[in-house]
Order: sequence, then C-alpha cells, then structure tokens
Amino acid sequence: MRELMIHLNENSPKYKQIYHSIRSLIENKELQPNTKLPSIRQLAEILYVSRNTTLVAYEQLLAEGYIRSEQKRGYFVETFESIDIHTPTLHAEKSISEERKIKVDFRAGSVDQHAFPIKAWRKCVNEVLKEDIVYMYGEQQGDRLLREKIANYLLQSRGIRTSEDSIVIGSSTQQLLMHLSILLKNKYSSIAVENPGYDGARTVFQLCGFQINPIEVRKKGLCMKQLEKIESKLVYITPSHQFPTGVTLPIAERLQLLNWAHSQNGYIIEDDYDSEFRYQQQPIPALLSIQQEARVIYISTFSKAFLPSIRLSYMVLPSELLDQYNQQFATFEQTASSIHQRTMARFMERGHWDSHIRKMRATYKRKMHVLVSSLHLAFGKVIRLIGTQSGLYILIQLQSSVGEEILIQQALEQGVKVYPTSNLYIGYKPEFSILKLGFSNLSIEEIQLGVQLLKKAWT
Ligand SMILES: Cc1ncc(COP(=O)(O)O)c(C=O)c1O
Repeated sequence: MRELMIHLNENSPKYKQIYHSIRSLIENKELQPNTKLPSIRQLAEILYVSRNTTLVAYEQLLAEGYIRSEQKRGYFVETFESIDIHTPTLHAEKSISEERKIKVDFRAGSVDQHAFPIKAWRKCVNEVLKEDIVYMYGEQQGDRLLREKIANYLLQSRGIRTSEDSIVIGSSTQQLLMHLSILLKNKYSSIAVENPGYDGARTVFQLCGFQINPIEVRKKGLCMKQLEKIESKLVYITPSHQFPTGVTLPIAERLQLLNWAHSQNGYIIEDDYDSEFRYQQQPIPALLSIQQEARVIYISTFSKAFLPSIRLSYMVLPSELLDQYNQQFATFEQTASSIHQRTMARFMERGHWDSHIRKMRATYKRKMHVLVSSLHLAFGKVIRLIGTQSGLYILIQLQSSVGEEILIQQALEQGVKVYPTSNLYIGYKPEFSILKLGFSNLSIEEIQLGVQLLKKAWT
C-alpha cells in the first residue's frame, strides 16, 4: 500500500480535493495500475477528515473507473487499459480554471452531499435489485408501493387524505406539469402565476400554449384581489413557501383561494416543493388538506428533501382529472426509474425517510442560522434578508442602486457565486436588486468564508 501525498485546503469541499488528487496521481502514472490504496478509514485518519469524506471520493473514482474494489482486499488502481483518460480540450481547461477560482458557490438546487444516507440507500438498492419488478417498465402511474408510502407520508406530514390510486409519479415537477397542461388545455386557455414566481413552471405553461396572467406576490402572498379580477380559472401557486420570496399564504387567503377555485370551476395547482424545511414553526397544512373535495392538484418532489439527481416527483389528481389522465396517457410508459421508485419505497418503509428528514431539518436550520447571523454581522442594516424562516436559500437585497449583474460580477471577482432573481419577475423589477443565496451543500466554514468575501466585494 502506498502513502498518498494529498494536501487539503479550505477552498473547496475536501472530498473533491481528495478525488482530484488521486485521479491526477493515476493519470500521471504516479500511482501504477494494481497499486493498493489505503482503506477508507486509513485515509480518513491520515488526512484528518471524516470517513464519509473519503468514502464519497472513492465512490466517485469507482464510478468513473479509476479504481476498483475487491471484496475483503480493499481498493486498487484500475489497470491502465480500462481507465478512460481523456485529454482535456481548451474549453474544458478554461472551465476547470474558472471553477478553481470559485471559492464558495451559493448555488441553490443541491443538497448536503455529506449527509446523504449512503449506507441505508445502498442497502435498499441491493434488496430491490433482487425484486422482479425493477426489471420491467413498471406501472403507468408509478410504483404502487411507493404511491402507498407517499399517501401515508402526505397524511402524517401535510394532513392530506388521499390514496395510492390518486397519485401519479413522474420524473420531475416540470414533466408532471407538462402532462397536466396537456389535460387542462382541453378546457382552459389561460393560467395565473405568481409574480415573482418559479420560471421553470411558467416556461412549461408557455410551451403548452397557455396565456400567462401574472399576479403580484405581496406581504401576504398572492394578491387575491388581482386574481379575482382576471379571467383565468387556473392558478399555479407555491403557498407554503412562496418561490422565491418565502412568504406563507395565510389561512384567510387560503380559504379565499379555495372558494375562488370552486366558484370558477377551476383548479389550483399547489406546488409544495420544500415544505419539510420550516425552521421556526410546524409545517403548515397543505391547501389540499383544508377542504373536502378541494379543487386542488397537489404536486411535490423528492429533489429538495432527498436528492435532485434522483428525478422523482409526484402529484395527487382529483378524480375527474385522474380518469382523463388514464385515458389520455394510456399508451405512455412511466417516466421515472422503477429501480429508484422501489428503492425509495423500501427506504420509506424501513423508517429511513423520517429520520433523514429530521436530520436534514436540523442541519439546514443550523446553516440558515449561520448564514443569517454572518450576513447581519457583516452588513448590518445595509442588507435586507428575505425568507429566512424556511427553505434552502435566502434572498438578499442590498440598499444600493448597483445593478444585479454588477453585484454578481463583483462577487465573482472575490471567488463567490451568487444568483440573480430578475428572471423570476414578469414585467417589472424590484427597486433594489435581489440576489439568491443557496446554502444546502455548503459547510458552515464555507458559508462564513462566502459572507466575508461578499463583504469585501460589496463594501
Ligand atoms: C417552486 C419549485 N418547484 C419545483 C422545483 C423542482 O422540482 P423538480 O426537481 O421535481 O423538477 C423547483 C426547483 O427549484 C422549484 O423552485
């Protein structure tokens, strides 16, 4: 077994540094084929990192074929012929050097990689691979066992009474919205959306030929007065954690909205994408749970609470739409992987889901707290923070007339990536620029470093 010379710094996640170091040792032939590597535990001890960190690095090298694992013997460098060493193109070199300059990336849309329950998930995958069902296309509405587990979860966490028969699984929220739009287009021609709001949903409605009616989001969420004045009978809304402002629609407005849908004979599309992560109060019951026979189509995803790359989402369809769905999509195959669906069902059945959610809520609560207090400390009253009670990102508004693009560029020059929100507004922009900072995949140290660098950039 060879000692590995790996120097770690604080500028990027440690598992990435370990992965890149071993990979270049192999590519430069400093590590010869068939060389035995230290075990996960030994390497973690040598480098003073957690075992999870070295495990993730080895998993990546394994997946890319740089190393192999031999039962009871450990990890070895793969033989030369089987390693796919690519010569980087100029473009790739450029993007790598740009990547290296980034010290902290406040990207939303990821999850805490180190907290991923690898062991439990792997165990469930191994079990599931012995089941005949995962070698087939699977049921059109999605794996029945997973639909049962989702129905239980919705009752316990969101107060929704439904059954597996009303649930349709899909590979993403946008894919489900696309199918839904095809159904709804039979009867409706326009749709109201929140402004600002989720551009991913708006694009789907536009592509499907709906006329878009933007409705302002105010302090209490969607402006009901504006909604009641327009002709749309459909509305797409994120009531529990408005995207992107973080507002929760109060109960009076919820009731008003439900009554509106009844009186219009229309539908509310309720996107409940990250309701698991409320840090101050209990989760708020979903719209669908408030009224019997509510005219609500409920949509949610595993992307935020579990893993975006799993590509698993689901919707609960009212009976009228369910019949239409089964007729119109009778020849369509299910779009989500049967392996992932059944694995998630087993994961939930074994109780791993509930403990994962509890753990992640505590982890993200801490990260949110560190981000908010570091920003307050660094910027004082110059900055307004929006949406700090829930979710995996916050919005920040600097009381300065400097434009969004310039603020992003200034941050980039200090090695920090922050994200725009102007793409989420239709027809107007806020007086002062608002930027989006995701924190889920950053460590506490990275969050603190990121805020320090932002202070350098902007003050
Ligand atoms: C409001 C909202 N809904 C849904 C999603 C994504 O869901 P999925 O990964 O299932 O497409 C996002 C992604 O950021 C979102 O912001």
